[in-house]
Amino acid sequence: MDASGEACRATWGSRLGFVLAAAGSAVGLGAVWKFPYVVGQHGGGAFLVIYLGCVLTLGVALLLAEMTVGRLTGQSITTALRTLGGRAWAWVGRIATFNAFAILSFYVVVGGWTVTYLMRAFTGSVLANDTQRLVAEFSAFTANPVASLASMGVFLGLTALIVAAGVQKGIERAGKWLMPALFLLMLLVIARALTLPGAMAGVAWFLTPDFSIISGDTLLEALGLAFFSLSLGAGMIVVYGSYLPRDARLAGSAVWVATLATLACCLAGLMILPAVFAFGVPPDAGPGLTFITMPAIFAQMPFGHAIAIAFFLLLLFAALTSAVSLFEPVAAFLIDEYQWRRSTAVLAVFVATFLFGAPAALSFGIWSDVRLFDRTIFDLMDYVTVNLLMPAGGLCIAIFVGTSIWPKARTVLEGSRAQWFVPVWRVLLLVLTPIAIFGVWYQTF
Ligand code: TRP
Repeated sequence: MDASGEACRATWGSRLGFVLAAAGSAVGLGAVWKFPYVVGQHGGGAFLVIYLGCVLTLGVALLLAEMTVGRLTGQSITTALRTLGGRAWAWVGRIATFNAFAILSFYVVVGGWTVTYLMRAFTGSVLANDTQRLVAEFSAFTANPVASLASMGVFLGLTALIVAAGVQKGIERAGKWLMPALFLLMLLVIARALTLPGAMAGVAWFLTPDFSIISGDTLLEALGLAFFSLSLGAGMIVVYGSYLPRDARLAGSAVWVATLATLACCLAGLMILPAVFAFGVPPDAGPGLTFITMPAIFAQMPFGHAIAIAFFLLLLFAALTSAVSLFEPVAAFLIDEYQWRRSTAVLAVFVATFLFGAPAALSFGIWSDVRLFDRTIFDLMDYVTVNLLMPAGGLCIAIFVGTSIWPKARTVLEGSRAQWFVPVWRVLLLVLTPIAIFGVWYQTF
């Protein structure tokens, strides 16, 4: 894909191409790394229910809204909002683009962990039964400034190379095989995880809602995670939607993307949380949860070594397709708005992301004492982007599509069988989205 916004804009070969690309962006570390540990911190089943509720209502409505903006203009978010709504709206685009950049900066830290765990899977050193040891190894690695910055640099470098070479399309085609492969492998690991002694306690915890423990903060995290796992609120879907062919059925695509993304989250939850209980790891152990439980499961599986390699390879691939989708809109912004050369833009985004991401990486070690609002640098970046900026971006787009451009926006659903959805969509955009977002913010702050 070439998202540089040139006059002759390519389109996806088919609707499947778009769905795969958007799902490739959506399915990544958010599902496998973030979802299990956030569920772990926020009490299991009830969180799952709220998360699913957010995805099915706001999530689908906003996916469709972002696709519409892209499809109506064929432009990336800042340019698109200016074309449709004038100069003031372009600010929403700029903020969304900044948000993509900020998310990328901490995403690459975790991407780096994946690179390191893949190397350890190759050498076999990752396989261990002893979760104490796994916790210690994870902490030692993330606290080591050289190791964590180097692995972050490798992951970011790979992402930049893919964007510079303009081979995203090839990557997305490969996703046609690799995403199902990741899902199948997760099923296999789930089978093992569920048969570990004590695993059922984890399943029950994950699937039985206990609404008494829900706080404002839990609602906010569930909302943020819904945005994060669908890649919403940062202009990404606008960019991908701008390549949609005229006759694509948008509503169906939105539902597909949401389904694949939530499926990935649920599979990851079923893979990690039962094992967490079986191995006696505290569910609220934080961002390392996936990386300390997976190796212990592999150690208990036949062919565990090979499975570990395959798993971390597929996870790295999924993480790269997501990182590319965060990198590309930032580069496309510099190219579209300031006419930078593609190579210059990629280099600039690479350097800026490394500099902005480095403090996040170091906050697991030498800078772990630097705290603002009682959070480490990494946690703060995660919190502000995911729970504040993404919902804010989504809210602006919802209002924009539901009011300013509604007469045009509704035409994208013309000819679709889902006519009943047109009014529902508007209610979701103009009533439910603002109420949910403001309500949750009000509860929390
Ligand atoms: N959804 C991705 C994940 O779950 C992360 C991601 C990719 C993203 N592109 C995005 C999040 C754009 C927000 C906006 O791993």
